Amino acid sequence: MDGPNPPTFPTLSELEAVAATKVRPRVWGYIAGGAGDERTARSNERAFRQWVIRPRVLIDVSEVDLRTRLLGQRVAAPIFVAPMAYHGEVHPDGEAGVARACAEQSLLAVYSTLSSAPMEEIARVGPSGPRWFQLYVQPEFEANRRLIERAERAGFQALVVTVDVPVLAVRDRQEQGGFAIDATVPIGNGPGVLPPRRGPTRGGSTFRLGEAPSPTWKTIDELRSITRLPVVLKGILSREDARLAVTHGAAGIIVSNHGGRQLDGAPATLEVLPEIVEEAGSSLEVCVDGGVRRASDVLVALALGAHAVGIGRPVLWALAVDGERGVRRYLEMLTLETASALALAGRRTVGEVDSSLVAHREWM
Ligand SMILES: Cc1cc2nc3c(=O)[nH]c(=O)nc-3n(C[C@H](O)[C@H](O)[C@H](O)COP(=O)(O)O)c2cc1C
Repeated sequence: MDGPNPPTFPTLSELEAVAATKVRPRVWGYIAGGAGDERTARSNERAFRQWVIRPRVLIDVSEVDLRTRLLGQRVAAPIFVAPMAYHGEVHPDGEAGVARACAEQSLLAVYSTLSSAPMEEIARVGPSGPRWFQLYVQPEFEANRRLIERAERAGFQALVVTVDVPVLAVRDRQEQGGFAIDATVPIGNGPGVLPPRRGPTRGGSTFRLGEAPSPTWKTIDELRSITRLPVVLKGILSREDARLAVTHGAAGIIVSNHGGRQLDGAPATLEVLPEIVEEAGSSLEVCVDGGVRRASDVLVALALGAHAVGIGRPVLWALAVDGERGVRRYLEMLTLETASALALAGRRTVGEVDSSLVAHREWM
């Protein structure tokens, strides 16, 4: 599985530290950093530690099955790769490496509008892999139509619209490192594709985010009207918006604060997951990302009602350390650990995980 060389990260605990030695400091600042002084970024991981897992014992767990369905599609585990820009900055294998590793393991990956590789290449190298396309809404509507048509032709199976970036947040670490995402980094989907706006700028006595209006619920309706793909909204953090997502016909929600990279002060995703599941539960599929690092985090998120969890930074760490091989190894380690944790918790399938599996520390 790993060829003749010794593994570059023997355990998951070592991954981040090894990755930090492989990536140029300004790119590391871009990956690791969050918005502002990173309160929300830190809170994501911390929120998982507020929950304990209540195992059941003396259940025959000799066979454990992690398979599930996401929007009707079979996947090997309720774990997916969250959309992240510019994999090519981290390792030359880039998105193609992630696509091959995920396709091989039948795991879903979501690819960013701002991928280093064109979406057609991602589809070509991992044709069997479940894949969703993440859209940063473009100011010119026809540009959205063109991207969506390309995604449909390339066999992407859902459209993930990121809704928490009307403007890029101020990110201290990124500013300090000088990673200028709009100017210097090539975008695989073509030079016409625009990254989210920076700003705001002063416009007299108000502040302006740009010439075109920022996306609204009406934009979601318009996007739905031009695609046959199910639409998933990424970046929902409140019960109110979950209700609107249902009304506007979304097929899914990814509860996300962008890994703490957008509104600093926003809640940890795990804190709002229960209210969103309660509001939207049976009408659409709810996933969550942010701070998922170990199998215990996966179990807690599932127990609180998530269909699946998205993994962000650790996938880039693995890519940085050893390219496609690193990602393959990382995903194998995480899914194996999750199967083991499920067995230790006395559950045989993802469907057997329910809220009785966890308790909040404060309530114990
Ligand atoms: C380097 C980096 C780039 C990202 N780029 C995007 C992007 O292009 N589109 C998007 O919707 N989210 C993007 N995200 C957010 C991730 O999809 C995800 O919400 C977040 O990373 C999850 O948190 P985690 O890193 O703690 O796992 C990015 C995150 C990182 C770390």
